[in-house]
Amino acid sequence: MAQGEILSGFLAPHPPHLVYGENPEQNEPRSQGGWEPLRWAYERARASLAELRPDVLLIHTPHWITQVGHHFLGVRQMSGKSVDPIFPNLFRYQFSLEVDVDLAQACAEEGRKLGLVTKMMRNPNFRVDYGTITTLHMIRPEWDIPIVCISANNSPYYLNTKEGMGEMDLLGKGTREAIRKSGKRAVLLASNTLSHWHFHEEPAIPEDMSQEHPQNYEGYKWDMRMIELMRKGKTREVFKLLPQFIDEAFAEVKSGAFTWMFAAMQYPEIAAELYGYGTVIGTGNAVMEWPLHKAGLSRLDAGPAYEGAGQPAPNGSGHATRYGPRDGAGGTLHGLVD
Ligand SMILES: [Fe+2]
Repeated sequence: MAQGEILSGFLAPHPPHLVYGENPEQNEPRSQGGWEPLRWAYERARASLAELRPDVLLIHTPHWITQVGHHFLGVRQMSGKSVDPIFPNLFRYQFSLEVDVDLAQACAEEGRKLGLVTKMMRNPNFRVDYGTITTLHMIRPEWDIPIVCISANNSPYYLNTKEGMGEMDLLGKGTREAIRKSGKRAVLLASNTLSHWHFHEEPAIPEDMSQEHPQNYEGYKWDMRMIELMRKGKTREVFKLLPQFIDEAFAEVKSGAFTWMFAAMQYPEIAAELYGYGTVIGTGNAVMEWPLHKAGLSRLDAGPAYEGAGQPAPNGSGHATRYGPRDGAGGTLHGLVD
């Protein structure tokens, strides 16, 4: 069997307001629009994803929280109504989706080999969280690509950022190995907002965009700083700053999806495509893609992870590099890997 590929990774945040603003038939509440710049950003991301024609989408979101271990949806067909507990007035969405259970099991198994606690979720009546549903709707509203859905283990919060990110790094490595062995062509979705300072009161008309702006100027400046680094492919620098960013911008990347995705991609030093940025109830949201396929980095070769910062990639493409977090002096994951 051919080895699997990771075609691309997307930063694909999940404010339910974006679904509300779009008025798809699956969502009960009706709106007059709103958050258009972010929804247009997702339109560009949708077009890019459609061109890739992946076999499977793998997603990690903060709103399926598991206290013990990393859980994976393990029921082939799932349907029901997903309701945002904070914004039930905006998001009551009838979902129906297909899970790639074989790949999910393989991810769980590879994670276990790396020392993680993993578990398959087999309850057919499980209500899939609104973060997963929102990101999947925004990136692929046709719902015609099977998914692997991974819970957000709570270790960054009940332990600390460093230990939690170490778990997510291992989870990403296990995910990569499972994709490699599967022979499938995969796309990764990190469903995270950036700065997460938010308003505590909703406008009378939620989609009244005259009320929408960054809640916190420091958070906004952090977002711009991190996005600029990502656009320049400075992944090492991004991960060096990540703990400070998390602390000072209350960034949702703390919940792990972003680190999981980058570990699975082997922390590529390639320029991200920014599709757009906007705020939702004051939080900072960027829709971005790291197109590994364009950089010649999609193929997942067996063997130890390549960690030669600043050197040509092992596939000889010569224009993209990767680094391992272990050598980042002062970096988030320093000393956690191996
Ligand atoms: Fe969230």
